[in-house]
Amino acid sequence: MKNKQTTHPWWKTAVFYQIYPRSFCDSNNDGIGDIPGIISKLDYLKDLGINALWLSPVYKSPNTDFGYDVADYRSINPEYGTMADMEKLIAEAAKRDIKIIMDLVANHTSDEHEWFQKGRDPQSPHHDYYIWKEGKKDWRGKEVPPNNWASFFSGSAWTKDDTNGKYYLHLFAKKQPDLNYRNPKVIEEIKDIMRFWLDKGVAGFRCDVINLIYKKSFTDGKGNPFYIQGSEHYLSTAGGHRILKEIHREVLEPYGAFTVGETAGVNLRSAKRFVKNQLSTVFSFDHVSVDHWKAPTFRIKYQPEKLKAALLKWQRSGIWNTLFFENHDQPRSVSRFGDSKKYHAESGKMLATLLLTLPGTPFIYEGQEIGMTDPPARPAEDWKDIAAINTKRLLRSYGVPRSLAYRWASNVNRDNARTPMQWSNQKNGGFSKVDPWLPVNPNASHINVSASQNDPSSILNFYKQLIAFRQRTPAFLYGAMKVVNSGKNIFSYTRHYKNDTYLVVINMDDARRRSKIKFDGELLFSNYTADHDAQYLRPFEVRILKR
Ligand code: NOJ
Ligand code: CA
Repeated sequence: MKNKQTTHPWWKTAVFYQIYPRSFCDSNNDGIGDIPGIISKLDYLKDLGINALWLSPVYKSPNTDFGYDVADYRSINPEYGTMADMEKLIAEAAKRDIKIIMDLVANHTSDEHEWFQKGRDPQSPHHDYYIWKEGKKDWRGKEVPPNNWASFFSGSAWTKDDTNGKYYLHLFAKKQPDLNYRNPKVIEEIKDIMRFWLDKGVAGFRCDVINLIYKKSFTDGKGNPFYIQGSEHYLSTAGGHRILKEIHREVLEPYGAFTVGETAGVNLRSAKRFVKNQLSTVFSFDHVSVDHWKAPTFRIKYQPEKLKAALLKWQRSGIWNTLFFENHDQPRSVSRFGDSKKYHAESGKMLATLLLTLPGTPFIYEGQEIGMTDPPARPAEDWKDIAAINTKRLLRSYGVPRSLAYRWASNVNRDNARTPMQWSNQKNGGFSKVDPWLPVNPNASHINVSASQNDPSSILNFYKQLIAFRQRTPAFLYGAMKVVNSGKNIFSYTRHYKNDTYLVVINMDDARRRSKIKFDGELLFSNYTADHDAQYLRPFEVRILKR
């Protein structure tokens, strides 16, 4: 696979790190992570070697979806600090050569946003900022929502507003009304918000569900067994592409801003359009949709070949890839693709190798660099994630037995990714002196930053070394990649630039595997220290060689 790009803007050689502010570091001991907490860890991040931060939302929000329900795009949620703290964070990061991108939640606002509060009144100029429709009558004459679209968080995507009797669209929670992108004023508002943050010195945006913004029609969705009901009316529409082009031309281009679009259910064709004068890059999700669900109760072991195929599909597409195995919506990757117990370090390093040696821009999610795992199950009454709570409620309303509904909804529980960062073996993992908003995983006793720093063979030190190596090795930054025929469940490729060639061999499986590869060259990295067999790879074994 040739990388045809000839220029290398900063974001192509950068390693990004995603912070979920609520769970990163609590500076004032109220149990909630905050911006001063992030500032206090900038040296840690610099030492890790990352170049840019993606901050999940820090705007004022009633926290139905923890910041993805924005009540004011220009103010900071007081739980996280003040605008002065935010400005200080941007300045302190810049001193360390770390750029910041903000989360731009443009598809919807909170129902507590002023626009929606005013817009409930059909006479208000803000009414048309949202999508309102009259209900329909069903065959019995009973009033039902305008169409059958489903919300990503379960149930109907429409809620009737008591004050005006109309239904408004919300593809997510009912406290997250969708904005109306047929209204040019909405587009102008979003451009202004972007300029506001770019003027403050941020380098760009991660654009939340940006391929959903423009709804092309409002008829019933066809029963869609593969994706959410109704999505054919709004996924990656021509109207959406047109709006992004306009925003690119008028805002992003003049500021030289970087964007990564969170493009739900995106295919290669649409992705290619998005990265042409619309967004810099996109996140695709094929590779994190490879789990096997043993219907309908629990997730079973994933198949390495499927993960490999999904990664290769995007590598072969010719577009610049983003690389990630975790974010605030996904299970922890060692728990999902590795073995969080028997091969914790081995599989954590295996995933680090994939992330940092494939072509593309890597995104590390907080805690991934120490191999944080999914936490033990908790009673449903204690869940915080609206997606999991709603899913369980809906299943129960269909008569699904309690224990089955619990296990089913547990699979989508995003609390798993959001337990606080494990800094030390002190109380609450050193995250806070008080009990945090979500309990710290008890394995913070041994999986934590400070223990990892002191252990030369930790996952953390592997990340550090591999990031540093990547940053000084052009073959890994922009060299061509060639797949090497390797055998089942093994992913192997070379990276090549000018006179340098490297071989990467990755056993993605938890079993010993025979490989057909000729391990010629000098061994630079491995997650096993000795006895490197010429034919066999141990569980999750990786090797990077210089040819
Ligand atoms: C995607 C975000 O990553 C997720 O956390 C959020 O709930 C939805 N978009 C809605 O904003
Ligand atoms: Ca705090």
